[in-house]
Formats: sequence, C-alpha cells, structure tokens
Amino acid sequence: MKNIPHITSLPNQGIPVTGLILPSTEIVNLNPRNLQGSKIIVSGKIYSGLNKKEPVRNAKVEVWHADDFGTYHMEQHNKDISYYSTNKPILRGFILTNDKGEYAFSSIRPGLYGDRARHFHYRISAEGYRTLETQIYFKNDPRILIDDTALVADPCRIIDFRRQQNNTLKGIVNIYLPQMDSE
Ligand SMILES: [Fe+2]
Repeated sequence: MKNIPHITSLPNQGIPVTGLILPSTEIVNLNPRNLQGSKIIVSGKIYSGLNKKEPVRNAKVEVWHADDFGTYHMEQHNKDISYYSTNKPILRGFILTNDKGEYAFSSIRPGLYGDRARHFHYRISAEGYRTLETQIYFKNDPRILIDDTALVADPCRIIDFRRQQNNTLKGIVNIYLPQMDSE
C-alpha cells in the first residue's frame, strides 16, 4: 500500500462531537452516530496570499454530505450548519483551521443520489477573505462524466482518496481562499 502525504500534527481521531468550535489540531468526527459506510478521513490546508502559501488561520470549514444511501440528514434551516445543536449534526459540521491553516475530519464516504457524482459539499469562510462554496469529487468516479456539475470541476477538486491498510479512505483537500480585496 502506498503512503500518501498526510498532515502529521493531527494526533487524535474520533472526537465524538461535531459542529463545535474544537481545538483544530483534532480530527472532527462528522459521524458521531456511526452511520454505516466506508470510513474516510479528510485533511487539508486553507491557504491564501499572492504566493498561495500563506495559511488562513481560524477559517471556518463547513462540510456536509449524503449518507451511504445518498440521503442528506437535517436539511432544515437552509443547511446552515451553525444552527444545529452540538449533539445532533449528522454528516455535517465545521472545523476551524489551526495556526497552520490545517483542518481534518472523519466521516463515511458520501453515498450516491440522482445523476450526481460522489461528492462532499464545502463552504469556507474567514474574516477578510471571500467565502467559497464548492464541491469535492472522487478521482476515478465514472459518474463525473455524467454529472454536469462535476464535469466542469477543476482538477484540484477531484481528489485521489486512497484506501489504507485499515480500510479507511484518506485524502487531502487543500483549498485556496482569495483575500477580500484581491482580484
Ligand atoms: Fe449534494
């Protein structure tokens, strides 16, 4: 099994809460009720600046996705994750980036619905930066070819999730967030 590059300063897994402002060196568990599915861990970095290397600290990374059957939970409140109480979110939540701009979460692989390719929804916001809402896809998903939204996605949004020896999928999603006053 090939190793994939992975942020090493994330020592903890399986924190049984989500939707909270957590110490962002920890992996936030978006599946506290252990819904069935293929376990997945996503980590990455939010960055900005002219050289595209400056970490964005304290960025709010909101993530939501369908369950193994392609169903979204807690659709109310216009999907505003901030609204949900801390013990209720299922397959949605947010993480605040640490001083290095890093974030990480664990969940299950999003299920399929309609003609959509497999995907995570992301919304990233931070003071002084433009809010970005986007979707992340899975490399080698044949559905990308029949999904009009996924078909036009930049390659950087199609992630090579790799299965680890413990059967967990792992992938890295790094995202550039433009500053408010940038072009
Ligand atoms: Fe969706």
